[in-house]
Amino acid sequence: MQKYTGKLAVLYQGQGDSLPFQRLAEKLNVPLYQVINDDCPESFFLTWRDGSLKLLDKELLKKGGLVVDIEPRNGEQRSWPAPKQGPLAQALGRKTRTVIDATTGWGQDSLHIFRMGYELLCIERSPVMAELLFDGFRRLAEQDWMQSLNLQPPRLINGNAIELFTALAFQPDCIYLDPMFPPKRKKSALAKKSMVVLRDLLGDDQDKEELFAAAVKAAGKRVVVKSPDYAEPLGGKPNESYQGKLIRYDVYFKD
Ligand SMILES: C[S@@+](CC[C@H](N)C(=O)[O-])C[C@H]1O[C@@H](n2cnc3c(N)ncnc32)[C@H](O)[C@@H]1O
Repeated sequence: MQKYTGKLAVLYQGQGDSLPFQRLAEKLNVPLYQVINDDCPESFFLTWRDGSLKLLDKELLKKGGLVVDIEPRNGEQRSWPAPKQGPLAQALGRKTRTVIDATTGWGQDSLHIFRMGYELLCIERSPVMAELLFDGFRRLAEQDWMQSLNLQPPRLINGNAIELFTALAFQPDCIYLDPMFPPKRKKSALAKKSMVVLRDLLGDDQDKEELFAAAVKAAGKRVVVKSPDYAEPLGGKPNESYQGKLIRYDVYFKD
């Protein structure tokens, strides 16, 4: 896998056993460093700090890095299942039980969907994001509330959803897509650091039309596409649209 050559390395700074760091570097086929100096061509680093796998860029090296955040968002009810409220729940639909999030990324939408009690399968094609998600879901499984309710974290598959949709073991009621759209301006002051890093690491998703077409084939009842509010709807005129903060959920029904 040449994908991350010159872009990403694993960083070990004496945090106990070095074996998991070596294994991760081998798995992703990237170098393992103990120090970062100006000669390192890579601008992204994966490391375990404070019990979590973190993604850092050179700016974040001292600050702490980005993790899959498993805490409920501001204003979200902390009980499980949280009420199916808000534009995301409206877009998923009242009759929806099973959801595939085909673009899991940092897992924030997935975790929101999971906390509302839907049955969820997550797909993510980037091996780096998949490692961060596996770590986040492992931490989620260790939460007291998960254990006392005997809940399992969502299942995650590392692969390209376009291919995986053709071999699904079940037909989900809803497929949820949140591919990376080109930004409106080169640097948006509003963009979250985690999304800026994701874009810098992975680039825009050039095959989103293909992903949409594959999702329409594979979904049982509907496909939901999250887009920035300035973007054209990915699949043409949607059947329904729900407005969020600076984003929109476009809903396409299966006929
Ligand atoms: C904008 S991010 C998603 C953010 C996510 N909704 C969240 O809440 O953190 C898009 C992600 O979708 C993934 N992706 C795009 N196309 C994909 C595909 N065909 N199969 C699997 N993952 C894909 C990208 O690798 C990237 O991590």
